[in-house]
Amino acid sequence: MTLTKVFVLDPLNPSKDVIEYCCREVKRGALVVFPTETVYGLGAYVFNIDAVRRVFLAKGRPPDNPLIVHVASVDQVHQVAEAPPDIIKTIAEKVWPGPLTVILRKRKEIPPEVSGGLPTIAIRMPAHPIALELIECVGPIAAPSANISGRPSPTEPHHIYSDMLGRVDIIIDAGSTFFGVESTIIDLTSDPPKLLRPGALPHEKFSEILGKQVVVTDVARGLAESGIAVAPGMKYKHYAPRTPLLIVETSDYSNIDSYAQKVVEVARERCVNKRCIILASRETEVKYRAYGFSVVAIGSRQNMYEIARNLFTALRELDRLGADLAIVEGFSEIGLGLAIMNRLRKASGFNIVKVD
Ligand code: TXA
Ligand code: MG
Repeated sequence: MTLTKVFVLDPLNPSKDVIEYCCREVKRGALVVFPTETVYGLGAYVFNIDAVRRVFLAKGRPPDNPLIVHVASVDQVHQVAEAPPDIIKTIAEKVWPGPLTVILRKRKEIPPEVSGGLPTIAIRMPAHPIALELIECVGPIAAPSANISGRPSPTEPHHIYSDMLGRVDIIIDAGSTFFGVESTIIDLTSDPPKLLRPGALPHEKFSEILGKQVVVTDVARGLAESGIAVAPGMKYKHYAPRTPLLIVETSDYSNIDSYAQKVVEVARERCVNKRCIILASRETEVKYRAYGFSVVAIGSRQNMYEIARNLFTALRELDRLGADLAIVEGFSEIGLGLAIMNRLRKASGFNIVKVD
């Protein structure tokens, strides 16, 4: 057990004294839970090997699942990456700070623990004032999401308290994160660039800004498991609540009434003698309630940001409600929808039924 110091900060106007205190402690090897625009991170100073090792212990994370290094400037990218390609300048100008992680070649000074022994390194510049001020002061910070390994990423303060209190030295509580799903990971060591994890920045947006197409594999869609090497994190069970999930998918969500009717049929068949909950959008929740089902609503299909933001809270909520099974609506894989479907499919352990 570690004694955890907690600071509650205003995300837009954080106390300089607290940031300076945290900076000193992190430089000395402390573990800090800090907010980013996507999800909370569990950070250690990248050049402190002991602190990096403690990150894996605190999360219960397998050592071959590498961390993302968070930077606050292009200068810090050069401290971490070996000869970063020119495209980094455009990314720094047009996308960062923001929810995009890139894979580059690693500098040999970076401890192998950070990258799970890979020759590459994941790097991003988070768009959160507290994260940026802290990283500017400390230097590059290696940080996975601040959840216990396998659980949904923390997007609300109560998630970090329940997962990390007593496991880290410092928690910086700055309220809800902004996006609710993690950053998009794009591998820039392959040509064309390859999407490793869809996230808060739609890959379509990346292509539009950088003028480069991105390869989207079934692994990125959450439809297949990867082996090793390319994105080690993807071979582990992720985001999973204890409640079993069944995702009901269709190839066309435009006729939402007929889709919801099919979800009702699946639920009626699968929920015999079970306590079922339907994880639904606002457009369809009334229908399910009319059939007597309990519903957790996660937002409107017209606003995928709202759905992304509520997603991990909803997954944790299912466990609190103690259902035997959750029937989960699908979403079309456009924009943020791809990140949402990747998380849901993986959280379900690929338990999917198609209703076309
Ligand atoms: O939004 C985010 O990205 C959050 C916040 C805290 O920044 N971080 C996050 O970290 O989601 P984590 O550790 O939960 O997920 C990092 C993913 C893992 O799936 C890992 O395998 C992959 O990034 N990764 C890290 N380094 C890699 C590398 N060199 N090559 C391929 N994948 C890598
Ligand atoms: Mg994670």
